[in-house]
Amino acid sequence: MNIQRISVIGAGQMGSGIAQVAAQSGLHVTLVDVDEARVNKGLQTIEKNLGRQVEKGRLTEAQKEEILGRLRPMTDLAAAVVEVDMVIEAVVENKQVKTDLFRQLDEHAPADAILATNTSSLPITEIAAATKRPEKVIGMHFMNPVPVMKLVEVIRGLATSDETFRAVDSLARHMGKTPVEVQDFPGFVSNRVLMPMINEAIYAVYEGVATPEAIDEVMRLGMNHPMGPLTLADFIGLDTCLYIMETLYEGFGDSKYRPCPLLKKYVSAGWLGRKTGRGFYVYE
Ligand code: CAA
Ligand code: NAD
Repeated sequence: MNIQRISVIGAGQMGSGIAQVAAQSGLHVTLVDVDEARVNKGLQTIEKNLGRQVEKGRLTEAQKEEILGRLRPMTDLAAAVVEVDMVIEAVVENKQVKTDLFRQLDEHAPADAILATNTSSLPITEIAAATKRPEKVIGMHFMNPVPVMKLVEVIRGLATSDETFRAVDSLARHMGKTPVEVQDFPGFVSNRVLMPMINEAIYAVYEGVATPEAIDEVMRLGMNHPMGPLTLADFIGLDTCLYIMETLYEGFGDSKYRPCPLLKKYVSAGWLGRKTGRGFYVYE
């Protein structure tokens, strides 16, 4: 399958990164969010990132304009997907929101279009079951920040066809990424391994084992992690971290995945990390 026109739903940190890398790889991309302010914020992030590449001499100003010319911002979901080969969904990590959205995508996108989700942890099989084309639904899980990170987890739902898998695998390669096939279990591989470590670091703050700075320093200097777990949690978004822990806890029914009460408290307070200016750290 030849994928040339895609629609990315959600222009937050992941959606804008996916749209940028897709447009840089030559695809025509419609970027969708719920209102103009949000979709324009996503576009501004892309412009800023491309501008940095121009400053570093990796892109010319003309190439930057050409890439931006392949991006179209929209707020009307139905209109944004009528002529696409594929949709990549990157909205909030909530099963109800995603299944409702996939129902709408199924209604408005061409019958042969692939519907992919960038979910961090939710069951692909259940999201697929909200559509009449489960064989064309798949997980395409990019890592944050998308322009930098090489990995894409490709997750088959129970009904995902080999043809859909091959198309998404080759699209990921075309976008300069390395796809890794993973089966449909809560959190897949990436977040089943990463998120309990982050949750444990939050328990260490909660129990007063050490300060956030000290915990991060231990993991950076002791384990050579590029960011400590609490800096990384703020970077991912504490809301997203909590939703992922809840999916692991519910999906496996094992108390070892219990979200730390401090994580819940921060999310209730609206301290979602970098994106709201405050999480374990305060951002200007
Ligand atoms: N967007 C685009 N590019 C970015 C960026 C961003 N948000 N942040 C950094 N970069 C680029 C910089 O421009 C720079 O590019 P060049 O080398 O080409 O000049 C490069 O990345 C390195 O940046 P810095 O020198 O400023 O900083 P750094 O060396 O500390 O690297 C980092 C930044 C790549 C983010 C690094 O800290 C890192 O790897 N952190 C861990 C990231 C991680 O674990 N991601 C996975 C999160 S989990 C996930 O995504 C799954 C999920 O479902 C939750
Ligand atoms: P974000 O909060 O930065 O952005 C989400 C965007 O989706 C917001 O702009 C919101 O307005 C928009 N949105 C919500 N409902 C919508 C709808 N019905 N239609 C159109 N737009 C809608 O979140 P994010 O960090 O970009 O995460 C998005 C998805 O990617 C989640 O499923 C998350 O689990 C996953 N993910 C996140 C990371 C990460 O590190 N943050 C990494 C990999 C995957």
